[in-house]
This record gives sequence, C-alpha cells and structure tokens, in this order.
Amino acid sequence: MSLASFPPAVHVRAPGKINVYLGVGGRHDDGYHALATVFQAVSLYEDVIARERDVFSLSVSGAVDADAVPLDDRNLAMRAAKALAAETGYAGGVHLELRKNVPVAGGMGGGSADAAAALVACDALWGTGCSPQQLHAIAARLGADVPFALHGGTAVGTGRGDQLNPALARGRFDWVLVTSERGLSTPAVYGRLDRMRNENGALADDPPLSLDVPIPVLQALRAGDAHSLAASMFNDLEAAALRERPALDATISAGLQIGALSGIVSGSGPTVAFLCETPESARYVQGELQTAGHEALHVHGPVPGARIISA
Ligand code: C5P
Repeated sequence: MSLASFPPAVHVRAPGKINVYLGVGGRHDDGYHALATVFQAVSLYEDVIARERDVFSLSVSGAVDADAVPLDDRNLAMRAAKALAAETGYAGGVHLELRKNVPVAGGMGGGSADAAAALVACDALWGTGCSPQQLHAIAARLGADVPFALHGGTAVGTGRGDQLNPALARGRFDWVLVTSERGLSTPAVYGRLDRMRNENGALADDPPLSLDVPIPVLQALRAGDAHSLAASMFNDLEAAALRERPALDATISAGLQIGALSGIVSGSGPTVAFLCETPESARYVQGELQTAGHEALHVHGPVPGARIISA
C-alpha cells in the first residue's frame, strides 16, 4: 500500500479516569506496588492530533497549566509514539498536538490518556496496523495506567494496575471533580504510603503482593447503584495524599456537607472525586463548590477509551 493512502492527520480522544477503588499491596523489587483497583473512564478528555513529519515533535495547549508539561522524551505521549515506531520498524516521525483538559499530575491519568491517544493516532497515521493486543503490550510498558486509557469503560486492574478485566457497570455515574492548581507527584505519594506503613510498624513489603477488589464494589457497579458504590468506594493512597496535601481534607468535608454521596481522592491525588445521586444533584454540588471558591467540574462515567474522532 502506498503511503499516500494514509491520512495526513489523525485526531484521537482519550478519557481521564477515577479509581473508584484502589487497594495498594506490597512493593515489588522493581519499585511498583501490587494493586487491586477499579478504574472508571470519565467524560473529561485529552485530544491528540497526529500529523506526518520526518522527526518527532510535540506541542501542548488546553485548559490546564501546559507549562508543566514537558515537550521532550519525558512526555509519555512522545515516548508512546517512539515506542510504536520502534516496535513496528516505522522510520518516519510525527508531530503530536496535545489538547489537554485532564489536570496535570492530578491523579486522573492525563499523561496516560495522552500516551494511549498517541498510540492509536500514530498507528492509524502510519498505517502500522497493530492489533489491540500489541497496542496493549506497548501501553503496559509505558506506564501502569496507559492500558486502561486505551480500554476505557469500567475495569478491574491488577498487577501494577495494567492487567485489565472489564467490569460490568450499568447506567451512568455522576461525579463532581475538584481540581487543584498544584499537582502531586505519584511516586511521592506511594513513597509516603510506604513510610506511613513503616511508622505503623508494618514493613513496606509486609502487605500482600496479590489483592482482590471487594465484592460490594463490583456489585454496586453491576447494579448501577450510586448509594452502594458510595458506601464501598475506597482508596489506600488517600491517607498518604492527605498527608502530602492536608487541605484536601476540608475539600472532602465541604462536598459531603453540600450533599455528595461520597468523596474520594482520585488515584494519587490531588483531584477529589465526589459521587452524586443524579445529574441534577451533581450540578447542585458543582455550583455550591464553585461558590465556595473551588474549581469544580461535573463529569460522568463510564465512557469509552481512546478512539479516533477524525482521520
Ligand atoms: O506507571 P506510572 O509511570 O504511572 O507510575 C508512576 C509511579 O507511581 C511509579 O514510578 C511508582 O513510583 C508508582 N507506582 C507504584 N505502583 C504502581 C503504579 C505506580 O508504586 N502499581
């Protein structure tokens, strides 16, 4: 097939995520922790537009502090494009335009969504024809959350969070997200958790290396029951994120007082995700939090993973 038959630009959209459950086990020798998590993809998206070039380059724009996003090989989207080229023997390059909406270093997998979108966009742009399994394997090497950004929906993640199984989820869940101006470093939050566990007398490698998601979480998702999910949501990283950013405690209390069913730090934070009963109650909670001076967004989940918008 001639190169001319491939499109000169491909636009892919990938979602941010919330961990509705995040259990953290012991630390493996590679520094990663054993996880049992449930991801839900939500309607806050990263857009990536890939254009044919001889070399690799990147630009960033969007509603978030784009200055905090590196434009070189530290950027996960850049690494994703190069990994796909290496894997497939593609000799050219690409310009990736990232339009960001997911908070940077916010615990919502924004960088992972960029990487997943870049993989799908470059595969279509270059005509490299990877299978979903091949893309998943490359994604898992890039970062623990990247496979989920490809997959979307609601899924259980085990291993480092990269071994995915779809979870049945009925209906839609309404979330209000409170974002923070300053992000939190994921390794710093995991490190804090290890130190807290040490302080409590448990060695960091005492927690089990294999964990399960509690049945009530899966039942609540399957039933589409926001009240049950609110009662079973949990995040092992929350205590560590609160130590790193004590002000989040007051944010969670504020949302609960206003009428959210439950509030949880998303991933390693500092974004706080409030689960609400209905779209109307979510709009109310969002409005009240904004009035109180918070940056609050109303989103819903589950939504699909990385997908082509135009080519
Ligand atoms: O894979 P990713 O780049 O998203 O992970 C960022 C960091 O988060 C890792 O370097 C590690 O410190 C921590 N992490 C972890 N265990 C996991 C996932 C992430 O300790 N399962």
